[in-house]
Amino acid sequence: MATIYAVGVGPGDPELITRKAERIIRHCPTICAPTGAADAASYALSIVEHLLDRSKQEILTRVFPMLKKGPELEAAWEAVADEVIDRIDQGEDVAFITIGDPCLYSTFLYIYKIIRAKRADITVEIIPGISSINAAAAAAGIPLGIAGEHIAILPATYEDYELRKILKEFDTVVLMKVNRVFDRVYAMLMELGLVDKGVFIRRVGSPQQEVIFDLTSLVGKELDYLSMLIVRR
Ligand SMILES: C[S@@+](CC[C@H](N)C(=O)[O-])C[C@H]1O[C@@H](n2cnc3c(N)ncnc32)[C@H](O)[C@@H]1O
Repeated sequence: MATIYAVGVGPGDPELITRKAERIIRHCPTICAPTGAADAASYALSIVEHLLDRSKQEILTRVFPMLKKGPELEAAWEAVADEVIDRIDQGEDVAFITIGDPCLYSTFLYIYKIIRAKRADITVEIIPGISSINAAAAAAGIPLGIAGEHIAILPATYEDYELRKILKEFDTVVLMKVNRVFDRVYAMLMELGLVDKGVFIRRVGSPQQEVIFDLTSLVGKELDYLSMLIVRR
């Protein structure tokens, strides 16, 4: 039987794709790039574009509505799961590509759950990738954790009281999806005296990469979805 591969393609730099990911992407007749944001789908594809042979491989780009949850979103995941199962039943291996690592906040994880529930007989192999977090810490030249330190990773869209608690308790806090709530987070960092402890990283690994330590310069700006904030005490 054919296999579903969930392939992490790294944060953007084509040299940060694993050899295994490259082999599988070249080999699969169907490449699926499902995502919650149109921009992220095209970003994942752009990372592997040089590995694809569009005359022989079919690329399924599926963009999901930007909703946190609900029947519309679940129906969209289910439709992709069915599409993939159909390919597998036709004997075709399918590679889902995800930015960074598939096990870290990726759309694949929702579809994986549906496929597992519907068809436990299908083999799903997960190929880890270099996450945007690892690449961002490296680009900024900061440790994520030393010795017994505590690291928190979370979407910045958490409620204020939870975010404040985490910022106080952890040595390093990685805030994903910070773009839409940056000003609110900035105000909290000011209040906690942490504003000079943060670094904003955008599109790490790509030619558009930016590493910004002066957080004040970002207030009031429209920010990229592919960006994060690392706060380290
Ligand atoms: C849905 S999560 C996907 C995470 C991904 N699976 C990973 O392992 O990096 C999307 C969030 O990851 C972060 N992200 C992904 N790629 C990035 C990049 N190249 N540069 C900076 N942040 C990135 C951003 O915080 C973005 O809002």
